[in-house]
Amino acid sequence: MTLLVQITDTHITHRDGLLYGQVDTAENLRDTAQEINRIRPRPEALIVTGDLVETPDRESYEYFIELISAVQIPVCVLPGNHDDPALMTDVFSGTPYFPVTDDTCQYALELSDVRLLALNSHAGGSELPELGLRNLAWLEQELERSDKPTVIGLHHPPMMTGIEFIDMAGTDWFQELRRILGQHEQVQLVICGHCHTDMSGRIDQVHEYMAGSVAHQLIAARSVDIAPSFEVKPSPPVLHHFVNGQFVSGSYPWPINAEVNRIDRQSGIPWETLKLQMMGSKAP
Ligand SMILES: [Fe+2]
Repeated sequence: MTLLVQITDTHITHRDGLLYGQVDTAENLRDTAQEINRIRPRPEALIVTGDLVETPDRESYEYFIELISAVQIPVCVLPGNHDDPALMTDVFSGTPYFPVTDDTCQYALELSDVRLLALNSHAGGSELPELGLRNLAWLEQELERSDKPTVIGLHHPPMMTGIEFIDMAGTDWFQELRRILGQHEQVQLVICGHCHTDMSGRIDQVHEYMAGSVAHQLIAARSVDIAPSFEVKPSPPVLHHFVNGQFVSGSYPWPINAEVNRIDRQSGIPWETLKLQMMGSKAP
């Protein structure tokens, strides 16, 4: 049973800085790290799907590493448009968080029941996505290597979102990815971030799950030709649960009092009895 946790778009600023002068992204990540540590049973790994920092410099990445190191399960990260993959390779080299081996800045991670392939959709100096020929060749090679059920992580969503300024990226950039996925049925899920809102969709037969941001949420942005707004509120962690040969995905808050408030504890009814009652049995 693989439990994979995802958070995204942490946008860590310099120490003591506030994003847009009002969002304490470090505080949000501190709280989220503790929330992830409370989840039981413990997930196998946490993936942070890009925009780790607001401005890609050494100081911001070192602060990110300090904050994320509070997470007590294995952590991995991938680059977003706000990141610098080459600088990440350098700054993360003393950590297990970004285990890249070449300048594609991509890697594979073996979990118990599934493989995670982390892609790099960063296009230098642009908000827009790019999957270069070498990056796509790497993906194809990795998918040829193993038939194990696979989840692909990348920052940008390879789908149209209905959000006008996101869809400016068009669909050309993910056509080759689409072709590769069509030839490798073991890919069951694509996970991403970027839009600072949660959303599910598809790339042909493959499910996509986009997680909301730990920094702030985009609001009022779909199907309207107006400037979007945002709400200063972190999204809870997302859990991708590989159960019965399929992924089920959704937000997974784990507040401090989660154990206390479980209905079986609160009611004093033993869980086994409650389960029988829920299944329609009158048995004690
Ligand atoms: Fe972002």
